[in-house]
Amino acid sequence: MRLFTSTLLVAGTLAATALSLAPTGASAEGARDGANAGAASPLYGVTIPEGYRAWQLVAPAQEAAPLDELRAIVGNTTAIKAYQAGTLPFPDGTVLVKLAWKHTQSPEFATASVPGAATTVQIMVKDSKRYAATGGWGFGRFVNGQPADQAQHETCWGCHQALVADRDYVFTRYAP
Ligand code: HEC
Repeated sequence: MRLFTSTLLVAGTLAATALSLAPTGASAEGARDGANAGAASPLYGVTIPEGYRAWQLVAPAQEAAPLDELRAIVGNTTAIKAYQAGTLPFPDGTVLVKLAWKHTQSPEFATASVPGAATTVQIMVKDSKRYAATGGWGFGRFVNGQPADQAQHETCWGCHQALVADRDYVFTRYAP
């Protein structure tokens, strides 16, 4: 599929130079990301940014079955400033993180939905030079702090490129 060709082309160059966003280690994210935090995603070399669990909320999201998840998209200071100013494209240094949990019913209240087990942490990092072949974005998908395989990372750019090119490849709007 044509969409993925550029991702594959960029693979060689990116794999050689793993991007290190910031040192990661034991922190508040420990329970979610396990002992593996620090490993880089294939193709892009994106790592889990330290302290993301305390970042500001951009918006929540819900994913229907079969995944059936609750999600929260958070951003670093650069991301939040860009959202608030309506800046497009997002400037270099923007980092967006999507946290996801299984959607479960509150044990105390039948109609309330609450987060269950943590599932994935997904990351987009803006670096217009390094990731020129993928709209300036590097992608990372992690489960228990461990990056998903290359095949999964080959899907990221295709979907974001196809559906939200007019918003710098970012789906999430800032929730009021
Ligand atoms: C088939 C479509 C599709 C694919 C493939 C996909 N995404 Fe997304 N992504 C979405 C949608 C839709 C959202 C909006 C939030 C939501 O519904 O969870 C999103 C949101 C995001 C966000 C929050 C910023 C934004 O654009 O809203 C990040 C970060 C992200 N995805 C990372 C990834 C990574 C990393 C991969 C590859 C491992 C990936 N995505 C693959 C559809 C996709």
